[in-house]
Amino acid sequence: MSPASRRQVLTAAAAGVGGAAASVGLVACTAGSASGGASAGSSASAGSSAQASGALNGKVTVPFHGAHQAGISTPGPAHVTLLGLDLRSGVDKSAAKRMMLVLSDDAARLTQGKEALGDTEPEIAASPARLTVTFGFGPTFFDKLGLTAQRPASVTPLPAFPKDALQEKWSGGDLILQIGCDDPTVLWHTIRMLTKDAREFAEVKWIQRGFGSANGTAAPGTTGRNVFGQVDGTFQPKEGAEFDTAVWASGPGWFKGGTVMVVRRITMDVDKWDAFDPTGKELVMGRRLADGAPLTGKVEADRPDLDAVDANGFHVIDDTAHVRLAKATVPAELMRRRGYNFDDGPTPDGKSNAGLIFVAFMADAAATFVPVQRRLAEKDALNKWITHIGSAVFAVPPGAAEGEYVGQHLIEG
Ligand code: HEM
Repeated sequence: MSPASRRQVLTAAAAGVGGAAASVGLVACTAGSASGGASAGSSASAGSSAQASGALNGKVTVPFHGAHQAGISTPGPAHVTLLGLDLRSGVDKSAAKRMMLVLSDDAARLTQGKEALGDTEPEIAASPARLTVTFGFGPTFFDKLGLTAQRPASVTPLPAFPKDALQEKWSGGDLILQIGCDDPTVLWHTIRMLTKDAREFAEVKWIQRGFGSANGTAAPGTTGRNVFGQVDGTFQPKEGAEFDTAVWASGPGWFKGGTVMVVRRITMDVDKWDAFDPTGKELVMGRRLADGAPLTGKVEADRPDLDAVDANGFHVIDDTAHVRLAKATVPAELMRRRGYNFDDGPTPDGKSNAGLIFVAFMADAAATFVPVQRRLAEKDALNKWITHIGSAVFAVPPGAAEGEYVGQHLIEG
């Protein structure tokens, strides 16, 4: 698409959201990203100096354009919102193109600390605080737009697993927007701008709000804790070839450099967990509560030794321990986990209502999430305290180059 016609579409969109396009204020932002709660993937350590020096991180930006979308290998933010959208009836490929054009343009601006087109609160946009926006397309996006032949094979509703208690209100979606930020006000503003862009084309099916550790509360690269108090997010595929093979898809053509995103909403019965003794809690996981080290190791980074036995010949890491069952049995089972805590509580009677928004990225969900979750659903000791209530899968297109929109090579062929 020529720059002139792109400008026409964007200007029309801005007029549609309440006025002429506002002037674009360029804000001086520090390049790179700061380190957040989860441990890092390939480009994860970039820009962590802002945190190490105790500097403010409001002006820290994460690049929007590039080979891969942001919000995958970059360290997790303090706050995240996942928006599941369904296309409105009548939205065809050319409308989907307009939608992605406008969304991508505003996401590119906002993540770099610039106001969106027609921004009604431009002041908030000036400090993006590691804002990232990641787009993904669900199986029904392909079907509704006549693109089924281009759908990556594993982007299909996940199979039913034992003990699933899935609710429609937390499942599926034609489109996902994963918006991460260290500042909840900036996050709010971004959601507002992007839903304004999308509302002519799509309606909100579900919204999931999650959180990790606040930026600046721990040294960069420190792994965060989940609502059971466990250090969660330690083990990730190794930066470099291992990460690239595990996470980035090699095809089909338009999807090269993309990834498959699995989202599971999992409630965690914190009140029931309270009643369990600390030793039992550690046996369930196979790692220590205090520092996240495996029961067979000394420090968090140690790999669990699944063969180690105690004086009586029992496995130190129990046969039903989460880490034993979750550990990849073949390289194809490696995934990048980037989950968040959620809290919908307390309930009127003062009980907790919290859990994990499990988010993971992988080249092929059928080879990765499905076999791992089968093992967990069947045998994981943690199952006494957790319940999967939502499930969704998305094809996350590769990153857009400058002047392109996300998903362009799918939508325009
Ligand atoms: C509420 C549910 C869950 C909780 C509380 C939980 C918690 C944890 C914790 C504390 C660890 C150990 C530290 C780490 O390496 O991150 C871990 C490891 C892991 N979990 Fe989970 N997890 C949950 C669900 C899942 C699901 C649904 C999957 C995938 C199907 C999964 C896959 C993994 C993997 C691959 C590891 C690393 C295992 C290794 O050491 O190789 N987890 N999880």
